[in-house]
Amino acid sequence: MTNLPKILITRRWPNSPEARVAQMGDVTLRDPDTQMTAKDWMQAAQQFDVIMPTVSDVIPPAFYAAAKGKVRILASYGVGYNHIDVDAAHANGIAVTNTPGVLTDCTADLAMGLLLACARRMGEGERQVRAGQWDGWRPTHMIGKKVAGATLGIVGFGRIGQAMARRAHFGFGMKVVFQNRSAVPEDIKAAAGNAQQLDSVADVATVSDFLSLHCPGGAQTHKLIDASIFDAIKPGAILINTARGDVVDEDALFAALDAGQLAGAGLDVYTGEPALDSRFRTYDTLVLAPHLGSATDGTRDAMGHRAIDNLASFLRGDTPRDLLS
Ligand code: DGY
Repeated sequence: MTNLPKILITRRWPNSPEARVAQMGDVTLRDPDTQMTAKDWMQAAQQFDVIMPTVSDVIPPAFYAAAKGKVRILASYGVGYNHIDVDAAHANGIAVTNTPGVLTDCTADLAMGLLLACARRMGEGERQVRAGQWDGWRPTHMIGKKVAGATLGIVGFGRIGQAMARRAHFGFGMKVVFQNRSAVPEDIKAAAGNAQQLDSVADVATVSDFLSLHCPGGAQTHKLIDASIFDAIKPGAILINTARGDVVDEDALFAALDAGQLAGAGLDVYTGEPALDSRFRTYDTLVLAPHLGSATDGTRDAMGHRAIDNLASFLRGDTPRDLLS
């Protein structure tokens, strides 16, 4: 690679990392800040040594072979990487990095916020106030669910799942159970408020008043939360999803809401986002956020700097800290 690599940043970044990356080579900051088309990707495959994509990019399958021998690294901005076919990238000599760790707290904060908003009917309440329909305090007005003492079930006990467990247990007095693909060491469970690992997602769903998803997206978790889980779920439970939209079978979600099996859901991510299934807008018991998990000033800066650190180490010939295998 020459001293001045040609670098493409696919979407606008916050000022601080954007100014830093601009010093790293012959940098193209796409303007306007819109999603790249398949044609844009196929052209980029021939033009850039480095592409810094992000979680909302849609990369056409043909890109990887077309980029072989030209694009050296996809240094992605974001922890999730289900927008990248990592096997295809590797098969074509393209390294891939992501940005774990820096968005743990903020994503867990948002998940906890959605949990509280659902439990205490804050979306409904705000809509009532704004519509001028609030007729005053009364003992039976807009009764929600008590959080303290309730059981939170977590699916996926990585960094964000653990951070959610700490918030729920130490902050809100909840009992925590979880499912994870591998066995979680005792010290990690203790630090997460003596969280208890159960065998399956269904086992967790059966005992949980709130079920919060923190697993990665991708083929292994596609529609993991399907009709069988909604059948198993504790009647009247609330689902929280800040992971990826396609972890949930949305038809099964609507069926569970219609049946009253699920009392509500707090969602930050959706299948095919930002084009939402129109049914989402029809349920008052849903709290809907526009993929805001990591959207704070400190975290979005840190994500950019982490992506740049990975790139800088790759360009030096070192192994980037977050190199995906
Ligand atoms: C990620 O980085 O994967 C998040 O979804 C962005 O908030």
